Amino acid sequence: MDMSTLWKKFAVRTGLAALDPKVKSRIGGDYFYLRAYSNDVLAAPIEDLELLEQLERAVHTARSNTVHTPEKNALIDLSQGMPDLSGFFPLERILSDAAQRPNLLTALQKYPPGFGNPRALAAVAKKITADTGVTYDPLSEILLCNGASQGIAHALECFVDPGMPIVLFDPCYLFYQWLAQTRGLRIRRVNTIHQRLDPRQMERAMSGAKAIIINSPANPDGSRIHLDDLKLIAALAARHNCIILSDEVYSGFSWAEKFTSVASLPSARGRTVVISSLSKSHGLPGLRMGWCAGPAPLIRPLAMLMSIRVPCVNATAQETLPDLIDAEFDFSQRRHTEFLKRRDGAMAAALDAGFNVETPDGAFYLWNQIPDPFLSGHDFARWCLKECQVAIMPGEPFGPSGRSMVRMSWGGPSELFSKAMQRIKETLPSAR
Ligand SMILES: Cc1ncc(COP(=O)(O)O)c(C=O)c1O
Repeated sequence: MDMSTLWKKFAVRTGLAALDPKVKSRIGGDYFYLRAYSNDVLAAPIEDLELLEQLERAVHTARSNTVHTPEKNALIDLSQGMPDLSGFFPLERILSDAAQRPNLLTALQKYPPGFGNPRALAAVAKKITADTGVTYDPLSEILLCNGASQGIAHALECFVDPGMPIVLFDPCYLFYQWLAQTRGLRIRRVNTIHQRLDPRQMERAMSGAKAIIINSPANPDGSRIHLDDLKLIAALAARHNCIILSDEVYSGFSWAEKFTSVASLPSARGRTVVISSLSKSHGLPGLRMGWCAGPAPLIRPLAMLMSIRVPCVNATAQETLPDLIDAEFDFSQRRHTEFLKRRDGAMAAALDAGFNVETPDGAFYLWNQIPDPFLSGHDFARWCLKECQVAIMPGEPFGPSGRSMVRMSWGGPSELFSKAMQRIKETLPSAR
């Protein structure tokens, strides 16, 4: 637990916090509410969450303008990791077919089975085997959840007790750090040097750690873990009895090489929980359909915990899942070709705007150094929102190495990304 969290808890529990005018204004002046908050709430990254709330509010207010029809000064959202896959598969038909099936009506009137319905589980097993070659028994080794987020949160809760060390990459998806922070886990960071891991740093980090979260291709920097480094992680995990949580939401967005799952290494499969969803592969974050896959002795307790926390995934999403997965077999090659085009277009536009651009190996983000005269990612992101009507993510929440970085998503239409870069290029001189 970091010092600021310890101090926050001390100040709240002793009543000192009530004297702070900033705290008072946040809670509406009443100390009763502050005392009502649990340790998890006090450990939450309030500044980061408030900034995201501001970004989200700005984006949602402008939503009708941004998705397909950018008007002259409308806000352009490059902040959220939402690829635009409209037109890649017949979503409306799949939804209406599901709605017309009598089994959906029956399913809606019952609590869905805890793990997921057998057709949906079989479809997930088929997708995983097609993507990675790894086979799972649908009925005992796969569990549906409400997006990958629920899977990650509950896997941490299931396998890592407060106070235990957990290994995260720097930078990494901000959610991991926030989860670890609110749960009181001890975060050990490892970084990549010239795209490779340092075996000694890895050995130190994983010694005594309870779990490591890997995400390859990665949010926010689009990096990919080299096969030899996956083998290193598998070997160290075996030596130190560590669980591997492999977040594979970007498996369909691997540019440099074909995607490799750590679970395809025989030494890793038995200690790995693979977590993924349709949020990125199908551009459907609103469906909240995800899954966890792993050996039954890891999946069974996870299912038990989920059944107490957030039982079942909604029946409509389960009913559409097999058709959505079948559709992906048809559009995955088109997605690959189209996103390579979007990536090259985004890199050219960002270069032209003056950013120092590195080619991402996967995912659909550019992870950029901020330009002069800005002092932090937060600073530059606020300026982009206010002066250019472009929403981007500051780098700070992604880890210590994100301090002077920002993340820009190019998952949407190329014209929008280029237009955003043009605005930044034209407005930047006024900030200097
Ligand atoms: C690495 C990573 N994992 C998980 C998620 C969230 O996935 P879901 O929408 O399935 O909860 C995101 C979203 O941006 C992500 O970048």
